[in-house]
Amino acid sequence: MRSLLRVMAQAPEELTAGRLRRLGEGIGKVVYASRHWVVKRERTTNEILALIVTWKFLRRMEKHLPGGWGRRLREHPGGQLRLLRLAARAVVTVVPRGLWYSSHVGEVWRVYAHRDWRGEHLAVKHLAGTTVVPETITFPPARLRVGGWPGWLTVSEATERVEDTLHAKLTGLARDGRYEELEAWLERLLALRRKGWQRGVYSVDAHLKNFGVIGERVVLLDAGGLTDHWEEVERHLEQVDRSAEPHAELGLGEVLEGAPEVAARFDARWKEAVNAEAVKELWPG
Ligand SMILES: Nc1ncnc2c1ncn2[C@@H]1O[C@H](COP(=O)(O)OP(=O)(O)O)[C@@H](O)[C@H]1O
Ligand SMILES: [Mg+2]
Repeated sequence: MRSLLRVMAQAPEELTAGRLRRLGEGIGKVVYASRHWVVKRERTTNEILALIVTWKFLRRMEKHLPGGWGRRLREHPGGQLRLLRLAARAVVTVVPRGLWYSSHVGEVWRVYAHRDWRGEHLAVKHLAGTTVVPETITFPPARLRVGGWPGWLTVSEATERVEDTLHAKLTGLARDGRYEELEAWLERLLALRRKGWQRGVYSVDAHLKNFGVIGERVVLLDAGGLTDHWEEVERHLEQVDRSAEPHAELGLGEVLEGAPEVAARFDARWKEAVNAEAVKELWPG
């Protein structure tokens, strides 16, 4: 078993030596990387609100845009999307906070912020130091140079960099037609999730971008979405039951479009493994 949190006298040199590349992003964080480590910048509330506004706008536009344009924009954030986001940030800045907080946008923000905060706590309590999550190190605050705005970032913590997100890994395997390996990774993901359930934590945000690959191992990258409330797990699983296509929910809709029989097998396996009965069996107490 590894130590809970490695404390270093100073930040690893590879973090301080050069400008760090932007590696990935979610709703709440932008992630920068050196060779072996990643550091995270928490987005400001305004940035998160602007993202939610953009996302909702694209959702609504989707049916008016030709050929899945909206969906493609949301899944592959390019220059146009960045522009749209800047516009949304301007709107968010001029509209008073109180209005956002009482709107649906505010509701989405509250759910995200609450889940993120709770998930981080649960991860420290139940998963830190296990093979379920990448390693974390801490060091005295260091000012690092990063690509893009605002050009620098002060952090006192870094996380082991994974080789790929599980989403990128499975997307690559599907593109190459390596479906047997893809299914082996699905089994590893399910095995990892079971380890969490045995410890009394369940992720309601099981998108494949929130998991990473280290060697043959799947790890949880994003603790946001972890819950230890059984009633919440049950409620969540009820909704999952009704969603017919787990592979699409996990982000594989487009990549498995050309392989419906693989998608069907994936969905069947997922439903068999991720349901209230199966989770309850492993849940402590
Ligand atoms: N340890 C890591 N190694 C490599 N990439 C990572 C790591 N942690 C996060 N990422 C990338 O950054 C993205 C956003 O991080 P995440 O913790 O999921 O933030 P958010 O709460 O905003 O969703 C992930 O989807 C992933 O692509
Ligand atoms: Mg995430």
